[in-house]
Amino acid sequence: MQRDVDQVLIPRAQIAQRVGELATQITADRSAAAEDGQITILPIMTGAMIFCADLIREIPITMQIGLITVSSYPGRSVISQGAQVIGQQLGDVKGRDVLLLDDILDTGATLRLVKGVLEEKGAASVKTCVLLRKDRPSAQSFAADYVGFEIPDVFVVGYGLDFNNHYRNLPDIVTLKEEVLARP
Ligand code: IMP
Ligand code: MG
Repeated sequence: MQRDVDQVLIPRAQIAQRVGELATQITADRSAAAEDGQITILPIMTGAMIFCADLIREIPITMQIGLITVSSYPGRSVISQGAQVIGQQLGDVKGRDVLLLDDILDTGATLRLVKGVLEEKGAASVKTCVLLRKDRPSAQSFAADYVGFEIPDVFVVGYGLDFNNHYRNLPDIVTLKEEVLARP
């Protein structure tokens, strides 16, 4: 797995520091806003799994966790094939403030889709937090409330992000060698 890595874009220590800052900001905003316990955290599976696990342990407020699975890069795709909800276990959403978590904001299709689902189910409010945002116009077309890092428009894996469902367990955010992406 390690030999497929081209460059380390964001090392684990830098991720940890930024996740802590995001948690502090989210906690402060929440404390200024509503009742404790009213928030539902909804990571978009599978990419946001590791980000969510690290982030929520630094947010010391009562919360519920839901899950939703969206697929947009099936198999070996490195460009979005259109977002589709393929599973959900939302829990209580009606009348609640929901914080959506995703690994990366690319075309914005995933967040737009899930935000629509939550509004339809009667969420009181929906905020969005992404660890990464690609530096491309389509990513700016969706206004995320919290953004961890702005990255170049390259395909990245690690810390939850995958290629063909591999590399999610790499602790750093990295690019892959050309030959790995091109492998049949
Ligand atoms: P969007 O719907 O185009 O904004 O893309 C968001 C989803 O696509 C994310 O939840 C990721 O799962 C996936 N994705 C986008 N860019 C990358 C990437 O560079 N590496 C791995 N997955 C990506
Ligand atoms: Mg994803």
